[in-house]
Amino acid sequence: MALLEVEELTMRFGGVKALDGLSFAVEEGQIVGLIGPNGAGKTTVFNLISRFYDPVGGRIRFRGEDLLRLKPHQVLERGIARTFQNLGLFPYMTVLENLLVGRHIHYKAGPWALALGLGRREERAFRAEAEGLLDRLGLGPLKGAVVAFLPYGTRKFIELARALMTRPKLLLLDEPVAGMNATETQMMGEFIKRVRDEYGLTVLLVEHDMSLVMGICERVIALNFGRKIAEGAPEEVQRDPAVIEAYLGEEVRVA
Ligand SMILES: Nc1ncnc2c1ncn2[C@@H]1O[C@H](COP(=O)(O)OP(=O)(O)OP(=O)(O)O)[C@@H](O)[C@H]1O
Ligand SMILES: [Mg+2]
Repeated sequence: MALLEVEELTMRFGGVKALDGLSFAVEEGQIVGLIGPNGAGKTTVFNLISRFYDPVGGRIRFRGEDLLRLKPHQVLERGIARTFQNLGLFPYMTVLENLLVGRHIHYKAGPWALALGLGRREERAFRAEAEGLLDRLGLGPLKGAVVAFLPYGTRKFIELARALMTRPKLLLLDEPVAGMNATETQMMGEFIKRVRDEYGLTVLLVEHDMSLVMGICERVIALNFGRKIAEGAPEEVQRDPAVIEAYLGEEVRVA
C-alpha cells in the first residue's frame, strides 16, 4: 500500500475545472515532484489533501485511511505537514515562537494544565527541540529575530523547520525554492534530502525550478489542466513530449 493514494480527484471553482480525475500514489520514503505550468492544479492538490476544500469527486487515502472524512487539524495530527506557496509564517513573531506554534498540536497537557503551569516541562522540551533544529540549519543565532525582518530565502527555511516541528510523516512543500538564488536553491535541496533521511519522511513537492526537481526527486508527476500528463523518473518526464508541449510558451527554468 502506498503512503498516499489519490484517486480520480476532481475539483471545480465556478466554471474552472482545477482538477479533472487526477490519480497518483506516493510511496513511503520517496521524494516526489509535482510539476506543471501555472494554473495546472498543483496547489489545489495540496489544498485538498490539507482538507481546506471538499473535492467534487474522488478519494484521498493516507496510510489506508480516508482523508476526506477528516478535518484540517486531524490531517495535521495524522502526520501531514505543509509549507505554503506564499509563506505561512507569523511575521511579527520571532523565529523560535513560530517553531513552537508548529508543535502545539502535540501538547499532551490540555489548556487548563498549561494554564496551571503543568505543561512547563513539555514546553521546555519543545523549546530545546526547536533550538536544536535551528542550530542544525545554521539559524540558531536568529532564533530571537522577528520573522518579518529576515530575508525571504531564510524565511523559507524557517517555514520548513516549523513544519518539521509537527513530526510529520508526509511533508507537502509548495515551491520551496521560489524566489531563491542558485546557492540557496542548492542548500534547500540538500536540506530536504537530509531531513527525508534523518526523519524518515516522505516528501511531495511542487516546484517550477527544474534544477531542484531533477536534483532531488526520485519520481515526478506532471500535470496540465488538472490532469496527469506524465509520470516516471525525472529525466523521463522532462523529455516527455506532452510535458515539453505543456511548458511551451512558459519560461522553463533549467539550471
Ligand atoms: N480558491 C480558488 N478560487 C477560484 N479559483 C481557484 C482557486 N484556487 C485555484 N483556482 C484556480 O484553479 C486552477 C488551478 O490553480 P492552482 O493554484 O492549483 O494552480 P498551480 O498549479 O498551483 O499554479 P501555480 O504554478 O501558478 O502556483 C487555476 O485556474 C486557478 O485560478
Ligand atoms: Mg501553486
